[in-house]
Amino acid sequence: MSPLIIVFATIAAAILIYRLLNLITKPSLPLPPGPSPWPIVGNLPHMGPVPHHALAVLALKHGPLMHLRLGYVDVIVAASASVAEQFLKVHDTNFSSRPTNSGAKYLAYNYQDLVFAPYGPRWRLLRKISYVHMFSSKALDEFRHIRQEEVARLIRNLASSGSKAVNLGQMLNVCTTNALARVMIGRRVFNEGNGGCECDPRADEFKSMVVELMVLAGVFNIGDFLPAFEWLDLQGVQGKMKKLHKRFDTFLTSIIEDHRISKSEKHNDLLSTLLSLKEKLPEDEDTLNDTEIKALLLNLFTAGTDTTASTTEWAISELIKNPKLMACIQNELDTVVGRDRLVTEQDLTNLPYLEAVVKETLRLHPSTPLSLPRVATQSCEIFNYHIPKGATLLVNVWAISRDPKEWSNPLEFKPERFLPGGEKFDVDVRGNDFEVIPFGAGRRICAGMSLGLRMVQLLTATLAHAYDWELENGVSPEKLNMDEAYGLTLQRAVPILAHPRPRLSPHLYL
Ligand code: HEM
Repeated sequence: MSPLIIVFATIAAAILIYRLLNLITKPSLPLPPGPSPWPIVGNLPHMGPVPHHALAVLALKHGPLMHLRLGYVDVIVAASASVAEQFLKVHDTNFSSRPTNSGAKYLAYNYQDLVFAPYGPRWRLLRKISYVHMFSSKALDEFRHIRQEEVARLIRNLASSGSKAVNLGQMLNVCTTNALARVMIGRRVFNEGNGGCECDPRADEFKSMVVELMVLAGVFNIGDFLPAFEWLDLQGVQGKMKKLHKRFDTFLTSIIEDHRISKSEKHNDLLSTLLSLKEKLPEDEDTLNDTEIKALLLNLFTAGTDTTASTTEWAISELIKNPKLMACIQNELDTVVGRDRLVTEQDLTNLPYLEAVVKETLRLHPSTPLSLPRVATQSCEIFNYHIPKGATLLVNVWAISRDPKEWSNPLEFKPERFLPGGEKFDVDVRGNDFEVIPFGAGRRICAGMSLGLRMVQLLTATLAHAYDWELENGVSPEKLNMDEAYGLTLQRAVPILAHPRPRLSPHLYL
């Protein structure tokens, strides 16, 4: 037989086998509907500057279960409670890892952290360690006094603002970071500086680092979806991530070194526990190396400060904008707490209106509007659609909690909907009721949910109780700008600048 015939026969056989294999493996079900992709970049241009808005608009046309193609990556978007429930409850195990991405690689110590660790034993260990030392009921109660002290300090600092308007978001960041830092590393990281409301310049720098991290992590980086173009770093995102990583690493390394130097002092914080475990049991598989410790600290500092501070800033913004609601919450606080002391965490269970205000804030302003992405470990079938293996899942938490099929007047801030007699009286925000899932749901639900909720409740209650709020330059409350800026977390586009007017016994402000 001539060599040419052999070549042709081989090619023909290969094509036949390829077609047959395709026929056998081709899913019999279609992909979910979605907008037509462009060549090469796919649907990347559809994401727009504020992706949770753009995806919400696309879902109106294509439905709550959508398929997009970002570059070479299949992306599935869930935009209704019932679709989210399928992914995060019914098929949760299959979606318990996160997709590869440049943020995890360049910022989060190459996946050595908790947020991006693949689902498995190391993720479980990191979650267990942070649960035992930070988030269990025992740990939360043990460190309650720290949160209360830091909130009382914030109230005193606000009082010393004099005639100057305060930047509430900035001061909330100092408070949440210091409260978390005292539990994690046994000390505050920022001073308030002279004159109370003048923040430590490092606090501003740290906040800008956290916000930059959230903004960079929120960018749809072309290199993540078109690996062939990764080296070009077309948007400059990877370069910025590497620079920012260096700044965080210097900060975290110095914290660990300081801790080793002051080892003789008795510490009762997360970092001391981790370091002493490592010294006592160097071979134990339950200990973490220095990089894993830094990665965990980075996660907790970044995931735990801005989310809590910005949610509280949104809550206070809504109360300032709606003076009647502010009067309701102040009335509840005056009745339960009185005017001669500050709110404590023990009061929180007796403040149903406050709880409803916080739920309503998390509904309208979920601090992570597209949650954090998950990946399909295996292909599966959902609502008669084929979900391919390796597809990235985005849950549009923001759109779900504004879905008019679930919520009456969804754009209205109405805490009463969560009170007895309200449309959603029994609904909670802790990942069981899929129409409002600000903390995500399933195995990878927010690790710091209980702490985050307690802190947002305590801060919102104390700020509303201790002060009346007047907007700077006589801006009337209803004119307060409520626009969103986008990062991975949902910041206010314009920070609140306001004058706090004390309303409790004077000794509480000294
Ligand atoms: C209002 C406050 C907060 C909100 C709204 C929030 C929201 C979220 C969301 C949506 C996720 C993704 C969940 C998923 O994939 O389903 C998440 C994950 C996470 N959050 Fe939070 N969070 C908050 C506060 C905190 C705090 C205070 C901490 C820690 C100090 C924290 C630590 C984490 C960690 C470590 C993860 C990753 C969990 C994992 O991958 O296993 N969060 N958070």
